[in-house]
Amino acid sequence: MTELILVLDFGSQVTQLIARRLRETGVYAEILPFDTDTKRIAALAPKGIILSGGPMSVVDEGSPRAPMAVFDMGVPIFGICYGQQTMCQQLGGKVISGDTREFGRANLKIAASSPLFQGLWDYDTQHQVWMSHGDKVDHLPDGFQVIATSSGAPYAAIADESRKFYGVQFHPEVVHTPDGKALLERFAKVICGCGGDWTMASYREQAIAAIREKVGDEGKVICGLSGGVDSSVTAVLIHEAIGERLTCVFVDHGLMRKGEADEVIRLFGDQYNIPLIHENAADLFLDRLDGVTDPEAKRKIIGAAFIDVFDKAAASIDGAKFLAQGTLYPDVIESVSVTGGTSVTIKSHHNVGGLPDDMALELVEPLRALFKDEVRALGRELGMPETLVGRHPFPGPGLAIRIPGAITREKLDLLREADAVYLDAIRKAGLYDEIWQAFAVLLPVRSVGVMGDARSYDHALAIRAVTSTDGMTADVYPFSHDFLTHVATRIVNEVKGINRVTYDITSKPPGTIEWE
Ligand code: XMP
Repeated sequence: MTELILVLDFGSQVTQLIARRLRETGVYAEILPFDTDTKRIAALAPKGIILSGGPMSVVDEGSPRAPMAVFDMGVPIFGICYGQQTMCQQLGGKVISGDTREFGRANLKIAASSPLFQGLWDYDTQHQVWMSHGDKVDHLPDGFQVIATSSGAPYAAIADESRKFYGVQFHPEVVHTPDGKALLERFAKVICGCGGDWTMASYREQAIAAIREKVGDEGKVICGLSGGVDSSVTAVLIHEAIGERLTCVFVDHGLMRKGEADEVIRLFGDQYNIPLIHENAADLFLDRLDGVTDPEAKRKIIGAAFIDVFDKAAASIDGAKFLAQGTLYPDVIESVSVTGGTSVTIKSHHNVGGLPDDMALELVEPLRALFKDEVRALGRELGMPETLVGRHPFPGPGLAIRIPGAITREKLDLLREADAVYLDAIRKAGLYDEIWQAFAVLLPVRSVGVMGDARSYDHALAIRAVTSTDGMTADVYPFSHDFLTHVATRIVNEVKGINRVTYDITSKPPGTIEWE
């Protein structure tokens, strides 16, 4: 059984980073809500438990608490920020509201030797950490001592060495705590005794065994392919597990980037030799989208058309009882609501394989435990080409949501060309891997230009490039001025029909990554 560190989530924005950092050190970590049933926790037999940060104040009535039973499970516990405070409060200490809030960098001084710090931090130097708190511990529970201080937090790190309970006021999971990952690693490996042997090679073996067990010796699986990383890695992994009993369905909605549809067919049909049904449904999608301008209407039409086409293709595969989906871990983490807020739908997402429940197919989701960067690592482990594995995310509705206003074949062709030139320039400049997503948007605007001695009246194009870790927030990529003017010149020269290029400099929030 894989060794597990369990992270109980109190709703911090950065809880996911705790699991990611641990996994980077070869220790498998999972996140569950703070109020998870203790029987479920015990059944997972974690080697250690981390209590995350959270947005509430432990002094507020009704603020969340860890299940008391976790303190009696005999496993090490590590409380981070809110997690430290609730642990103190629950074990008989006291937390007070601070007069001042402390945000940002702080310097940590070691106050007592602890196995948590040994070989990592010493007494003589100060260590940079990232703080973000208002409350602070005022009185320690019995058995605890201070092991590090900072000017704003006299209880910056505390320990009850006999029970192996630790707490820190700062956030080791963020990059602004440079040694934070090493600290989490020490907790997992030295304090909890994890071996750190969770690698993509071992994951590949386990996942293949799990697929074989689920599907059995006879079962057949259908997998929707989009040309993106997640569905591609899903398909190759399942193919490795069950061979020809996997059939891929590629619904070609005519909204792909330049050359992408051909590449999917070549790679999966020819190179991997996976049985592939290629549904060329561009006419159907474009007919249904004819004259539609509302972004949500476009998304819904594409989602429904996808299901129609996919359903029909799937029905033609005899005896298939399983449907493969490239669901990732961020989609399955059970969300925590500690503030009782409600969220609004910004966009209705459409994903390949996002099919209705009445398909009566059982799901196979071999990537459910993985973050996006881990899926890429798994793809590399499977020997998949870097051009595919390192590819930027691409939305299910494709180029339709990058053409504000009505979609036509002409506009799609224009956008495909411009997008290809833009991406080529980025690749040639060696910038592709530094960017989360780069793409062009064909604007419903024409403007006057002068080319040679002639007047032009052509389309304007926006180009966008963002950095992000998960697509939830994004920063604009800081291209040099030279690069931007070089790209603009290339696009206007090489793509007939575009005479103006703008660079979108909106971060997310307030913008979203896609325009629709
Ligand atoms: P937004 O535009 O919401 O996008 O900031 C965040 C990330 O999600 C991608 N995206 C989608 N992916 N189906 C998908 O599979 C969709 O309907 C969809 N809409 C947006 C977007 O490209 C970005 O990576």
